[in-house]
Amino acid sequence: MKSGPKTRQMFHERAKKAMPLGVNSNFRYWGDEETLIVKKGVGGYLYDQDDNRYIDYRLGFGPVILGHGNKAVCDRVTEAIKIGTSFAMTHEYEIEAAEKIKSLTGVDLVRYANSGTEATMHAIRMARAYTGRNKVLKFEGAYHGFHDYTLWSCQPPNPGCGYRRNPLNIPHSSGIPQAINDLVINVPFNDEEILERKVKEGWGDIACIIVEPLMGNLASTMPKDGYLQFVRKLCDEHGIVMIMDEVKTGFRIAKGGAQEYFNVKGDLMTYAKSIANGFPLAVIAGPEKVMGEIGYQQIAHGGTYCGNVAATAAACATMEEIEKGALEKAGAHGRKLAEGFTKILKEQSIPAVVQGPDTMPGIVFTEKERVNEFRDWSNGDHGFYEDVIEAMFRRGVMPDIDSREPFFTCAAHTDEDADFTLGVFEEAVKEVNSNR
Ligand SMILES: Cc1ncc(COP(=O)(O)O)c(C=O)c1O
Repeated sequence: MKSGPKTRQMFHERAKKAMPLGVNSNFRYWGDEETLIVKKGVGGYLYDQDDNRYIDYRLGFGPVILGHGNKAVCDRVTEAIKIGTSFAMTHEYEIEAAEKIKSLTGVDLVRYANSGTEATMHAIRMARAYTGRNKVLKFEGAYHGFHDYTLWSCQPPNPGCGYRRNPLNIPHSSGIPQAINDLVINVPFNDEEILERKVKEGWGDIACIIVEPLMGNLASTMPKDGYLQFVRKLCDEHGIVMIMDEVKTGFRIAKGGAQEYFNVKGDLMTYAKSIANGFPLAVIAGPEKVMGEIGYQQIAHGGTYCGNVAATAAACATMEEIEKGALEKAGAHGRKLAEGFTKILKEQSIPAVVQGPDTMPGIVFTEKERVNEFRDWSNGDHGFYEDVIEAMFRRGVMPDIDSREPFFTCAAHTDEDADFTLGVFEEAVKEVNSNR
């Protein structure tokens, strides 16, 4: 979809003169004529600089679980920052937020970071320190942030990513040292046999298995029943730290995140996104036996802004709203969408899988009955997906154009929004299908 004249001429052109491509994350550049510039977000809606309104299902890549500009969060932050913003010393909001995280997720101890990238980076270092081993086992197609240790095979070329039993490690960017290749193992998600073989071959070197409990960066591809429990068992048997990367699932799919939703416990969890409704707070958390060793001169962890006032105050208010039922509201909306998508696609005989939990449903256009892993997903029809989403944009509904992203819902989305979205989806699918 072409952006409006004001967006393009007054803002995007100006932005490009100051920032490469005019954006601050490569994922945000959609083309010179397509990249939108936001004017404001209000509840479940987003307005661009040409005053077009969209129902927002990107929600900033997931964090905005309560809706944009949520009053409870804004009021708490406005009040909190009167005491100051950053002290590099512990303050009360930090303690209160940590207590709430403990009570919602059941973890023993938490430490803060500022982004999901930082949280997974710290968690991996802790796993290495805890085990005295170096290698990281991750899943093909999984994304855990921008640091060098996991930015491998996040979206590798297929064909080109190697034999399925031994996937190649493909760096996701130039600038990642080749030496790190030796420290990373990639396996397909949801395949017990390949995972077990890789662990048995090399467990003495494997510090951690880092797993997104459902693949939130692969259209919410779900684990098979018992798969996460199998990962847990292998980790227990081989002294490997199980890192559950809950950056997308935490404080979204259930109050206690994926640990509660799938009834499995990780050794370390990383949270970010929905914990603070869009304020930059991230968390590394876990049981005393793993977290307890963080201390002066044991395992390095810190950062100037870790636990700053605005982010922790926002988290306190967000978690209170979650305790009061925000996830149930966001979930009811997402459930209605997922049921509607399934019905519409069936009526139009378009093969697709609609998958994922209520607050983050994903769609893959595929002949397959179930999507288990990256290679299933990558063989789907992503051109069709992008065309459908583009047709939705034109009609005022904005899921992410990247088919790896699910539809994120929030507590501010209304029932009327769901009806409108489903009407738009039906029209968009019909339009794109008739042009194929
Ligand atoms: C599962 C997962 N881990 C880590 C990250 C990185 O988080 P951030 O963008 O806050 O650095 C993301 C971001 O989308 C993510 O989805």
